[in-house]
Amino acid sequence: MKLWGGRFTNREDEIMEQFNTSLPVDHRLYHEDIVGSLAHVTMLVHSDLLTPEEGELLVNGLQSILSDIQSGELKVEGDYEDIHSFVEMHLTERIGETGKKLHTARSRNDQVAVDVRLYAKNKASEVMDSLEQLIDSLYKKSVDNNVIMPGYTHLQRAQVVTFSHHLGAYSQMFKRDKKRIENAIEIMDENPLGCGALAGTTHNIDRNVTTELLGFAKPVDNFLDGVSDRDYLLELMSDFSIIMMHLSRLSEELILWSSQEFGFIKMDDAYSTGSSIMPQKKNPDAAELIRGKTGRVYGSLFALLTTMKGLPLTYNKDMQEDKEQFFDALDTVLDCLEIMSKMIDTLHVNADNMKAAIKAGFLNATEVADYLVSKGTPFRDAHSIVGKLIIYCEEQEKAIEDLTVEEFAKFSGHIADDIYDYIDYDNIITKGNKGLLKIVTQ
Ligand code: ARG
Repeated sequence: MKLWGGRFTNREDEIMEQFNTSLPVDHRLYHEDIVGSLAHVTMLVHSDLLTPEEGELLVNGLQSILSDIQSGELKVEGDYEDIHSFVEMHLTERIGETGKKLHTARSRNDQVAVDVRLYAKNKASEVMDSLEQLIDSLYKKSVDNNVIMPGYTHLQRAQVVTFSHHLGAYSQMFKRDKKRIENAIEIMDENPLGCGALAGTTHNIDRNVTTELLGFAKPVDNFLDGVSDRDYLLELMSDFSIIMMHLSRLSEELILWSSQEFGFIKMDDAYSTGSSIMPQKKNPDAAELIRGKTGRVYGSLFALLTTMKGLPLTYNKDMQEDKEQFFDALDTVLDCLEIMSKMIDTLHVNADNMKAAIKAGFLNATEVADYLVSKGTPFRDAHSIVGKLIIYCEEQEKAIEDLTVEEFAKFSGHIADDIYDYIDYDNIITKGNKGLLKIVTQ
């Protein structure tokens, strides 16, 4: 069933009908579509394009459709071209001829643009809430586990850090992600309703009325841009891609840390699965799936970028492809943020294994060099002295702090008893500007 057909003599081919319909995807815009139409009707009455009686009839009809969809009495499905046709045709069926006046001074081009903007704005706030939740989970885990662990570069043990500081690095990433989304919301906060198909309307409408009713900051400045702009979806999907990249890096670390090789953490059973053949296995599937789904979100971004890149102004049907990509990326990022928060909340930290890994990794070698510098040795010489000292420790199978002062003396005459305090791991994390390792950041 269609809203057009006057100028057609032949029926649309069935396969074309299926190819063209977007209802199976855009049915989830029913709320935004009806809210947009309610604002449009109020504006039409305000602009004397509808009588107050007609306005009331339309509003009541639209509200009854909304409540029937919400209660499950009316299913958003059937032989309709899209959500806009679905709502309008049901309206006319319910209230009669007046329903046909709803589309006065409007095109589906500005209608779909306003629906998607409203939906994206709303869902972007939900993503911000989920980010906040994850930042909170990371903070709580940090407070409860302010213990020392090896820090890495090149995935080689490098210097001692704290587990809290390591998790805090991810909090910083997710805080930036939140800011990016906030910024995207600010940029997209413009009302395209009233742009018509592409060139506005000869009716004397007032776009400020719908702008205010729908909660946008202002109407768009250019009609052609208003109906053909999908930047806000691309921008959100770029932001989602960066969130997924961050989640994927964190997942990778959780996977590594929960391996027997690291043994730094244990994932809760609730977010792990077993093997059908190897009874001993507990696999970090939730983290692996998040890492895997990152590619899917990047894919959605690139699909829409590619769809948009050759389009002349203004609306082209290619743009109907925007929703499937955006919805999939959005659902994925929301699911992954929730699962990650829960995984963080429930993971168990093995502080003893982290400490043991430090002991075995000469993670205080840089501090021995710093000690020598404090005694007057130039840093480059100190670096070379400690290099030789490490070879000695490896041969003797000893940690640096287990050497005697006599053994230290073979490498430098400047090393005295105070070396042990200087290179003690717990002392290291509070020295100099490393005081910040004691600070658990949210
Ligand atoms: N289903 C369409 C979309 O999502 C709605 C706009 C249709 N406009 C048109 N001129 N055919 O893009």
